[in-house]
Amino acid sequence: MSRRASRNLAAVVLAAGDGTRMLSRIPKVIHALYGKPLIHHVLDAIRKAGVQQIVVVVGYRSDLVRKQLSAGVQTVVQKQLKGTAHAVMQAMPRLKNFQGDIIVLYGDTPLLTAQTVQGLIQTHRRQKAVCTLLTAQLKDPAGYGRIVRDQTGRIVRIVEDADASQAEKTIEEINVGAYCFNAKALRRTLKQVKPAPNGEYYLTDTVSHLVKSGAELASASTRSVGEFMGINTRADLARVQTIMRSRILEKFMLRGVTIVDPYTTYIDGSATIGQDTVVYPHTVIEKGVRIGRGCHLGPFCRVGSNSTLADGVFVGNFVELSNCAVGRNSKIFQHSFISNTSIGRDVQIGAGTVTVSPNGMWEGLRNRRRIRIGDRAHIQGGSLFLGPAFIKPGEVVKAGSAVRSGS
Ligand code: UD1
Ligand code: CA
Repeated sequence: MSRRASRNLAAVVLAAGDGTRMLSRIPKVIHALYGKPLIHHVLDAIRKAGVQQIVVVVGYRSDLVRKQLSAGVQTVVQKQLKGTAHAVMQAMPRLKNFQGDIIVLYGDTPLLTAQTVQGLIQTHRRQKAVCTLLTAQLKDPAGYGRIVRDQTGRIVRIVEDADASQAEKTIEEINVGAYCFNAKALRRTLKQVKPAPNGEYYLTDTVSHLVKSGAELASASTRSVGEFMGINTRADLARVQTIMRSRILEKFMLRGVTIVDPYTTYIDGSATIGQDTVVYPHTVIEKGVRIGRGCHLGPFCRVGSNSTLADGVFVGNFVELSNCAVGRNSKIFQHSFISNTSIGRDVQIGAGTVTVSPNGMWEGLRNRRRIRIGDRAHIQGGSLFLGPAFIKPGEVVKAGSAVRSGS
């Protein structure tokens, strides 16, 4: 999206709800999903779509939610949780003189992609609509607001699941909860929303008011699997996590990584993995890990955050690596736990080796306190390293050795 186009865009993200159905003391939008708070997935999609001005509406335990937000977003507090339209109203003073289009998203729909948000904006602009809705067709639409259309296919209103008649409940087109509004029209129509039978001001009610005023509405549809899913319960959270994982693993596979069993493999989306690396079942690869080409990992291994593995590294079964750098073609055999260690090239680490060194708070200390193992060294099985140590290139450490700091 061009700079000019993105300058005329702002986003409001609703995150004030208490997430009643989660049965939790923690606000729903900061529950962890695939390594980060739920709401971060939504914010990332918005930013990637080219929207820079973002207002997040917080409410329930707002201090906790705020702590998880970066400096780049503005927040407003919705003091009483009086519904989604009421939440958007709280954000409007922050967008007082804003003239362009406002995207409204809910903080609990983390599978929404940047491409879909962009598609929503493009449809909105191409059709010169005042409001464009994102919709999806579901065989089981229960729980979602339904899109009611007239015989000619024009949108008439959205009816919430709880308020829908038997006939309306059979409608399979649902409201995903992503909207693009013309700012002026949104300001005007928010004032017309009346409380629903449960006392809440529904954002979805803006639709019928806009239709009555003769405004042009449009709709766009979701593009990828499960994208419509809103998280209301912990069961939803697990379902979304499964979809997100398969989406991320697919990205790695399409880049030339073999994943033997996607059902038991967890790889953080920020990791990088080279071609022809094979990941065996029950492997966990965390945030920021960098792995080269032609490596072997697992089964049952964990590569902790920010570790780096060069090309051709072998990590055997039940190996755990934490804060490690491993050089080319080195091999770490089964049941080893290797932490805070830098390993050179062509090193062999025998089964059941343990390296532990205190992890400093800052980089300098961290490097000084690392265990360093030179190129071609051979650590025979069952060795134990305690505290910082340096093993010279080519050195052989006998099976079952205990190496303490200073040696
Ligand atoms: C909402 C939509 C529904 C849609 C569904 C998609 C309304 C009235 N209904 O229903 O049409 O199909 O999402 O997932 O909008 N929030 C606030 N303040 C409030 C109430 C809610 O900020 O006063 C926030 C929540 O934190 C949440 C989001 O708005 O992130 C949506 O609220 P939620 O209660 O989950 O709405 P749904 O019942 O799922
Ligand atoms: Ca929801």
